[in-house]
Amino acid sequence: MNPFVIKGYKGPQFFCNRIEESEWLVNAIRNNQDITLYGYRRLGKSALIQHVFRKLEKEYVCIYTDIWGTSNAEEFTRELANGIIKSKVFSKQKFSEKMVTFLKSIGASFSIGIDGLPSIDMIYRDRKNIFGNLEEIYHFLNQLKIRIVIAIDEFQEIKKYDNQSPFEGKLRALSQQSQNIVFIYSGSEQHLLNDIFTKYSMPFYQSTRMVAIEKIEKKVYFDFIIKHFRKAKKEVNHEIVDYILSISHQHTYYVQAIANFLYSLEKQPGSVTEFELLYRDFILEKSVFYSELPELLTKQQFIVLKAIAKLSTISSPNSADFLEVSKIKSPSSMHRAINSLLDKQLIIKDHGSFRLYDVFLEHYLKYI
Ligand SMILES: Nc1ncnc2c1ncn2[C@@H]1O[C@H](COP(=O)(O)OP(=O)(O)OP(=O)(O)O)[C@@H](O)[C@H]1O
Ligand SMILES: [Mg+2]
Repeated sequence: MNPFVIKGYKGPQFFCNRIEESEWLVNAIRNNQDITLYGYRRLGKSALIQHVFRKLEKEYVCIYTDIWGTSNAEEFTRELANGIIKSKVFSKQKFSEKMVTFLKSIGASFSIGIDGLPSIDMIYRDRKNIFGNLEEIYHFLNQLKIRIVIAIDEFQEIKKYDNQSPFEGKLRALSQQSQNIVFIYSGSEQHLLNDIFTKYSMPFYQSTRMVAIEKIEKKVYFDFIIKHFRKAKKEVNHEIVDYILSISHQHTYYVQAIANFLYSLEKQPGSVTEFELLYRDFILEKSVFYSELPELLTKQQFIVLKAIAKLSTISSPNSADFLEVSKIKSPSSMHRAINSLLDKQLIIKDHGSFRLYDVFLEHYLKYI
């Protein structure tokens, strides 16, 4: 198996570092503190949650819910219920009497998958009490009298719900009443999460401990990569590993994906130059994803994006040099272009400099 996992979580041996973060999270959970875990995309939030769940599985029933793409309270409730079914709440029996009672009590219609587990298709809505099913779920979990951790991933999605404000209030009230449950709210769109947790007027104001996930330290990641090559008795050029960490900005997913690519090569390249040639093809394969990009941007935005990609990072876009390469005349036009690229999440501010959010896009724009 390729040890550089690029999908999900495959166990502690394939997981690099995050020792302090894990300890911090475990400690907070053991002390009944709800948590907000945030950080930019693809840095390893979801994997960290799974890693922490692995450490806690003997003490807690761990429930993971991803609410990406849900757009209202019913869909939220459905995903939460699905998370519960997949957890160990119903002990070892795959499909028990208790589970049926639970599904009925929340008005769920479900189908049985090939794994023998039900999955909820929809939850019937009670017109008189739109949060009735959600209350039922919390009630069910509360009366179990076992210790539970619930992670709600992509939590910023609730900001997009139609009846967002009463829903947020209800959720907060239910969470407060759940003495036996610790919550982890996780997500990436920072301004949305900020709205939920740090605005005085909002229900969740200061109700959780906030923790930001950062990059994994370069040296630690370097050793992790070398260790896995050594384990498989594959020779690897250390300069290439160093190079990978540098061109990926240590952005976890990209480090993993490029290391995965390097590991998959039958013959290991002997130098950075040799690696670059192979890597170039790997990036150009992705052109289908990026070919429509120029149509989504103004000409000026695209030129700025490409100029940033060529430089990799830029700390002062208003410098005379950068204005010149971007062919932009005034600092105010530059300001507008930068802001719309930030808005579209095509670039991010990473430790004081701007860079492309999608590292592969950066490399693609460098090569074309
Ligand atoms: N510490 C780690 N060691 C090794 N691989 C990791 C680590 N953290 C994350 N990964 C891998 O990196 C990839 C991205 O991680 P993950 O999906 O957890 O990020 P995320 O922050 O939740 O992203 P998104 O915002 O897109 O949901 C995954 O394939 C995961 O397996
Ligand atoms: Mg995630």
